[in-house]
Amino acid sequence: MIEKNCSLKAFNSFSIDAYAHRLFHFQKISQLPELLDLIKVTKAAKQPILVLGGGSNTLFCEDFSGLVIKVELMGVNKSEDAQHHRLKVAAGEDWPQLVENTVEQGINGLENLALIPGVVGAAPVQNIGAYGVELKDFCESVDYVDLIDGELKTLTNEDCLFAYRDSIFKGDLKDRALITSVSLKLPKLWKPLCRYGLLEALNETADSVTALQIFDNVCRIRSEKLPDPAILGNAGSFFKNPIVSEHLSGQLLSHHADMPHYPQADGSVKLAAGWLIDQCGLKGHQIGGAAVHTEQALVLVNNGGATAYDVVQLAAFVREQVLQKFAVLLEHEVRFIDANGETTLQQVIDNV
Ligand code: EPU
Repeated sequence: MIEKNCSLKAFNSFSIDAYAHRLFHFQKISQLPELLDLIKVTKAAKQPILVLGGGSNTLFCEDFSGLVIKVELMGVNKSEDAQHHRLKVAAGEDWPQLVENTVEQGINGLENLALIPGVVGAAPVQNIGAYGVELKDFCESVDYVDLIDGELKTLTNEDCLFAYRDSIFKGDLKDRALITSVSLKLPKLWKPLCRYGLLEALNETADSVTALQIFDNVCRIRSEKLPDPAILGNAGSFFKNPIVSEHLSGQLLSHHADMPHYPQADGSVKLAAGWLIDQCGLKGHQIGGAAVHTEQALVLVNNGGATAYDVVQLAAFVREQVLQKFAVLLEHEVRFIDANGETTLQQVIDNV
């Protein structure tokens, strides 16, 4: 189904009021020939194409001048062998619902990834992660439509080049892959992972700890700190946790002994963007209708009626304050989309 001049407000968790020139609801694989024709026409008219999942990590900076493909493919296929549960999940399925359903059915492994907003097809793009677990730990393969030649293709876990909030879908396959399903492989021999932050209260070595307990705890911790997009528009962590040199981390630690820091295997050090922003005293800081969340400084929220530009200005201000105080340049995790496709905070500011 195609809509013209379609509001995207309900399709982005920031609730920004932007419009798409055309929007196609991709609900069944049998619509593929129709979709490929539409893509051809759009490309011939030199208009951009955007694949949109749940819109939970997207900031529409302007009206979109081309075709938005809203992925709404549904269905979960389950199978198992002696050692593993396997789930082939269509891209439009809701991620938090999938996690809840699997845990309820006694299929363990995804519990640390509870309540991450978005659809399943978006999960591999930024290799979603929380509380010591990432999608890459359970993703066996990803099916996608290649928008250049129209063919259905499959990538193995290794092919996906997963890294911290990164994958091939943000690199070589950017603007080229429309993910149709994700295959997950969950070992039946389950091991709890409670080493992260507030989950440490659960004793992962105790036989009694269950996936349901971890699920409940993750849901509680997340709901206490992260605003529900249905109530307060937001896109989760706005910035990535920056990875800096050991030298810079050491310098900062000499002034801020309590700074959270996570040494990486290659000698670099990951810092907590939320802590850096918090130290700049920015919790609650507001520009127009956009504000730094009062409970978790890594999240920018729409307090009601925020324009995309309010969010852009606030993001630029936050980035500048952190740069001045800590000499650390934050990168946004949220995808910025302008009239012609993906862009960056810097480009949006430069164009004003
Ligand atoms: N902190 C502050 N003030 C704040 C926020 C954080 O001092 O306002 C401190 C915390 O006390 C903690 C440290 O910074 O010592 C890290 O904070 P937290 O544990 O809340 O996690 P995070 O690094 O801010 C990351 C992910 C989240 C994920 C959590 C839990 C990124 C960019 N974010 O946040 O992912 O839920 O860890 O694993 O990697 C998302 O991507 O949308 C997201 C929510």
